[in-house]
Amino acid sequence: MHIVPIPSRITYYGGNVQHDAQVKKEKITNASLGNEGYIIRASLNGITLSAQTDAGLFYAEKTLEQLRCYSSIPCMVIEDKPRFAYRGFMLDSARHMQTPDEIKKLIDAAALLKFNTMHWHLSDDQGYRIESKKFPLLNIKGSWRESDDFGSMHTGVKYGGYYTHGEISEIVRYCAERHIEVVPEIDLPGHTTAIISAYPYLSCRKEQIPVQTTQGIFDDVLCMGDSRTLEFVYELLDEIVPLFPCERFHIGGDEVKLNRWKECPKCKEKLRSLRTDNFAALQSDFTKKVIEHLKKHGKKVTVWNESLAGGELPEGTTAQMWMDRKKHSIAHANRGGDVIISDFYHYYCDYPYHMTPLKKTYNYDPILKGIKPEAQSRVIGVETPIWTEYICDFDKLCYMFFPRFAAVAEIGWSEKDKLNCRNFERRYKGITPLLQKIGIKSAPASHWNPTPIQRLAGTLGFFKDKVSFEALSNSINSQKN
Ligand code: ACM
Ligand code: ZN
Repeated sequence: MHIVPIPSRITYYGGNVQHDAQVKKEKITNASLGNEGYIIRASLNGITLSAQTDAGLFYAEKTLEQLRCYSSIPCMVIEDKPRFAYRGFMLDSARHMQTPDEIKKLIDAAALLKFNTMHWHLSDDQGYRIESKKFPLLNIKGSWRESDDFGSMHTGVKYGGYYTHGEISEIVRYCAERHIEVVPEIDLPGHTTAIISAYPYLSCRKEQIPVQTTQGIFDDVLCMGDSRTLEFVYELLDEIVPLFPCERFHIGGDEVKLNRWKECPKCKEKLRSLRTDNFAALQSDFTKKVIEHLKKHGKKVTVWNESLAGGELPEGTTAQMWMDRKKHSIAHANRGGDVIISDFYHYYCDYPYHMTPLKKTYNYDPILKGIKPEAQSRVIGVETPIWTEYICDFDKLCYMFFPRFAAVAEIGWSEKDKLNCRNFERRYKGITPLLQKIGIKSAPASHWNPTPIQRLAGTLGFFKDKVSFEALSNSINSQKN
């Protein structure tokens, strides 16, 4: 059967169920199903969906939707539950925005594939994307850039906008109906040019700077020595938190350059008060305070792995591993901290199939080497990000995301011993009519796994056209902090 993600167990009994067979839903007590598992019984008497929870019943319906692609459904029992509790995708709406209708299409696809988290990246150097009533300059200035200058793409046209509170609430509601949590990300204290462009007093130099129009990692970050920074951040978060009733909140923390802090008298004074000469400790101290503040709102905080460079973060903090040469995420898991795996080389869908073929994504084991056996359960799940510097329309976004999006969904849901890329590809082709109905156009199958020669040529071409080597090496060098 073409079911993605592949279920834990299917037992066939012979015979077929008609499409118009009656479907019954029931809540049952069966601890082995957990919060998201379900059972489907398809027999000559009809179809029964059973689960302990509404989420379980919802996933049973999504499996049934896939079974309905066939002219008849075999008599069978499907018993199914997820491998990981956290199964996410990340959408960057800061570099390029998607319309609410486009986002809903992604959410429908995510629901079909049993993702339960949409991580929504809403603030970066190239734009601030949440309506702010408290800080209107965030929208008047921070939501607009003068042009798009990404790689070889130069538009010369002003670009921008933001999501209103009403639009955000609608997306959150749409997700909730599909058992998906929306986790917003406000990236702090780096990737904050858009915020600084609106309120320059938040930076070390206090100079007016424009919203960035290029890809990169930029010097101007929030000043860690000025008390007004935390006051602003707390007030901003107080405004944002009520829009997102999820358990988690993401505060970024990736790729923070230290240059400005090293030359800023206030930051240096702050560092002395922390009794260290490690400038990364400034980020750590700031992050701890923001985590404490969000705890008061009942939030569990996620950070990108670099946030761990300046020392341990409060208990309960989740690290999102994307590029972690220093293995801070592994140490975090071994200390009992939760980790989400979003490995750059495998799960980043903004990189071409030449660089990250489908089978490379699919075959990556998220249980990182170095995590002790007793700490492996600290890997709470997987997430596939898509960054949108070079992705300014929805068809391109779908081309890059699908089928890798579905591969990560399967890794998140299905048991390791069930995973087989060839078999996945066949099943994925079987469910593409459902994705097409949603409005998702996948990459053609001939692009999924390029040959080694194609990979080399395609990867070189990508870097020549799109990414500046400087940006990439900055990114890799930032890991040395
Ligand atoms: C990241 O890709 N900078 C998290
Ligand atoms: Zn400073």
